[in-house]
Amino acid sequence: MNTMPPAVGVYVHFPWCVRKCPYCDFNSHPLRGNLQEPEYRSALLLDLSAQLSGISSAIIDTVFFGGGTPSLFSAETFADLLAAMQPQLAVDAEITMEANPGTLEHKPLDAYRQAGINRLSIGAQSFNPQHLAKLGRIHSDGDIEQSFASARQAGFDNVNLDLMYALPGQTVAEAIADLQRAIDLGPEHLSWYQLTLEPKTEFYARPPTLPDEEVVCDIEEAGHQLLADAGYSRYEISAYARNGRVARHNVNYWSFGDYVGIGAGAHGKLSQDGHIVRTEKPKQPRLYLGDPLAIVHSPIAQDALAEEFLLNALRLVDGVDVDVFAVRTGLEITALQPQWQQMIDRGLMRADRLAATGQGLRYLDSIISKFLS
Ligand SMILES: C[S@@+](CC[C@H](N)C(=O)[O-])C[C@H]1O[C@@H](n2cnc3c(N)ncnc32)[C@H](O)[C@@H]1O
Ligand code: SF4
Repeated sequence: MNTMPPAVGVYVHFPWCVRKCPYCDFNSHPLRGNLQEPEYRSALLLDLSAQLSGISSAIIDTVFFGGGTPSLFSAETFADLLAAMQPQLAVDAEITMEANPGTLEHKPLDAYRQAGINRLSIGAQSFNPQHLAKLGRIHSDGDIEQSFASARQAGFDNVNLDLMYALPGQTVAEAIADLQRAIDLGPEHLSWYQLTLEPKTEFYARPPTLPDEEVVCDIEEAGHQLLADAGYSRYEISAYARNGRVARHNVNYWSFGDYVGIGAGAHGKLSQDGHIVRTEKPKQPRLYLGDPLAIVHSPIAQDALAEEFLLNALRLVDGVDVDVFAVRTGLEITALQPQWQQMIDRGLMRADRLAATGQGLRYLDSIISKFLS
């Protein structure tokens, strides 16, 4: 019998940014007037305490402060939130904060480190001044380097840089130069995302000219090689880690683990009494502040479980052990047949694990659609 207490991740959302980027469909709102830090902090603390009371025996293995721009908030807010989680927090918990260059340079990062944050995720996006301008970023390439140096000075030994490629008008050489600048800084982790045009964004309404498919393929091929040569292993579609420093919080999402979602628009997923329930908080900061305890619970239908599981697990380059499927979904592995066998026969999935092959990783959408009931 497994007597280990269940492990969960905690995601905390900070919904404001200095400015809204034209490609971004995250729940982020341009800051108008003063940041309502004390009010938002109190709301988060109420929300956290209510949600943790429902899972008081769970150990919090990872915490992710995401946004929006969490680094607009002071270290005190993070210290208070972590103090409230303390009774359930694992001693070696991974505690990440997303940090935007342009909001960090004049702040002592030591205070965040002292508050208990032990991993920073810096949103670089590009090092090319023209591309940064086109993306509507508020920072320069120098600001990224300064933020990174400040992080190291403050003692952060686990730092991620977010970069995007296939930017408007970007050439292969420019995309590779961006990656090289990031690699030169020596972060433990790199997230390298293809820019996508998301509905309800400025870029979607007025699409810029993006590189064609052939250029994107060339960028990916050269980028994968460069990252591998620099010692970064690709462990998820867009995530690369050196020396095994994967993002534990995200690995929990991808392996269909449980997590609590705190803050405006935050999503959670919890296994309760044989059911899997998704939770969602009010998206608008104003509504959230008005009722921080409001929450919508939606059980995942039994016939959607296998697909939801695979949507996440197949993003991991090594997928997951076959056993994880039964543990997380409560379904028999036979629920995935005959589609799994068909994918094996076509060379798109492995037979020893629930994982896509190298070829399969390129066609994940079509693999998943085969599993749709
Ligand atoms: C939660 S977001 C934003 C984090 C932080 N506020 C920032 O902008 O630096 C996390 C990452 O998603 C990526 N991202 C956002 N919008 C995207 C899009 N439309 N296509 C691809 N990647 C995107 C960016 O690399 C971004 O850093
Ligand atoms: S700073 Fe980040 S979260 Fe905010 S609008 Fe830009 S991409 Fe979105």
